[in-house]
Amino acid sequence: MRLRGKVAIVTGAAQGIGAAYARGLAREGAAVAVVDILDPNPVAKEIVGNDGKALPLVVDVSDEKQTGEMARKVADTFGHIDILVNNAAIYGTIVRKGFEQITVEEWDKIMAVNVRGIFLCVKAVTPYLKKQERGKIINVTSSTFFKGNENFLHYVSSKGAVVAMTRSLARELGDYNINVNAIAPGQTMSEANLKRGEETDARSLRARLLKRRLLPEDLVGTVIYLSSSDSDMMTGQVLLVDGGTAFH
Ligand SMILES: NC(=O)c1ccc[n+]([C@@H]2O[C@H](COP(=O)([O-])OP(=O)(O)OC[C@H]3O[C@@H](n4cnc5c(N)ncnc54)[C@H](O)[C@@H]3O)[C@@H](O)[C@H]2O)c1
Repeated sequence: MRLRGKVAIVTGAAQGIGAAYARGLAREGAAVAVVDILDPNPVAKEIVGNDGKALPLVVDVSDEKQTGEMARKVADTFGHIDILVNNAAIYGTIVRKGFEQITVEEWDKIMAVNVRGIFLCVKAVTPYLKKQERGKIINVTSSTFFKGNENFLHYVSSKGAVVAMTRSLARELGDYNINVNAIAPGQTMSEANLKRGEETDARSLRARLLKRRLLPEDLVGTVIYLSSSDSDMMTGQVLLVDGGTAFH
């Protein structure tokens, strides 16, 4: 129970990897706001059913009014905010294609959620963290940024921006004792990948030093570490959790 008494917001937590983060943080004692544009109630109910504390919130992270309301509701319900996990992104629904086939509308939609969404959530939550001169922000980037995957330019570019935001925000928030770090998962068998019949391909597996599928649960320990006092002197960093594929 390393996070007893802490309050966490996990965006994109109605399913997939975000739901695993929400469950994991709750298991460590944190009260968790389960935030998504999809119905967050099933995950929140599951947490409460396991004697945890959860608040389901339907929020579009690309909308400034909604992210402001999100922060207010979490603070009103639980009294404070300690941890923000910026996991929401357009990922599972992306059709991979060459950059020449990507439309301006598709490009802008991905940037609005994957990049502006993090900017807005950080902007909304930071006043609460600053007030208590303590806080943890964990951004979710991707190993695709390190590998420069093809047929995925909008997504890979958005995850590069997440690395950039992590470093610049860490500089701006260090004086307030707020840690900003990122996790970069490798290809993970979340519902999104399983649903579209995607499997870790032979090439990915050959390139991976630890030769098995990466599961959402494999990422949870790193997020708990970055949320806990164990990482108090770490900021502006990106932790790759990809079974050993990319290095930086
Ligand atoms: N699965 C992988 O292989 C993998 C690898 C590296 C990084 N990631 C990242 O991990 C995170 C979770 O991935 P996943 O595999 O669970 O994918 P996913 O597509 O299932 O999860 C994304 C979640 O974000 C939510 N979301 C989308 N737009 C939103 C918006 N505007 N406002 C609020 N919520 C919104 C979705 O509803 C969904 O629940 C994403 O940031 C993804 O980029 C995934």
